[in-house]
Amino acid sequence: MTACRKGDVSLNKTAVCPGSFDPITVGHLDIISRAARLFDQVVVLVSVNAAKHTSFSLEERVELARKVTAHLDNVRVESFDGLLVDYLRRLGDCAIVKGLRAVSDFEYEFQMALANKKLYDGAETIFLTTGAENMYLSSSLVKQIAHFGGDISGFVPDCILQEIKERLVLSQNGDSTGADK
Ligand code: PNS
Repeated sequence: MTACRKGDVSLNKTAVCPGSFDPITVGHLDIISRAARLFDQVVVLVSVNAAKHTSFSLEERVELARKVTAHLDNVRVESFDGLLVDYLRRLGDCAIVKGLRAVSDFEYEFQMALANKKLYDGAETIFLTTGAENMYLSSSLVKQIAHFGGDISGFVPDCILQEIKERLVLSQNGDSTGADK
């Protein structure tokens, strides 16, 4: 482990950042980047939320996440289509890291954190407060705006902006844009 500078916090564990990432936004990237400064290793785990119909396939979401995190040496992107706790059990020494936007996220995230802990006692969830500039941001908002040809620059990382625009503006299949991250 690298030596801590004064004021740094460093956790000698792996952080798992699970989510639908449909698609990944600058808000997600902010949380992942901050986790990468706190933890030795970070796994961005593109997962299946059974309550959501996604606009991007699992493979597409992984590819987008890989592109936007390519500059972060201690971050890797994986996908998993089972229960999060099963992935955690297999990985071992790790913590779940999630971003928390104001009140709207609290109940949902609290429920998931408690359910994961109940299913597997080793599942500890750490919440990072979303950056103030990203409080309003969600994947569903990005999809809504892009679908109608609006400007999503600043909402998703530049390196995937064009890809997402082209993919979503052409999407005429009435994708669900239910509340998400
Ligand atoms: O970005 P999202 O959709 O809010 O993320 C939710 C996600 C994908 C992390 C959650 O649905 C999940 O963990 N899915 C994997 C299956 C699972 O373990 N479900 C039970 C969670 S208590």
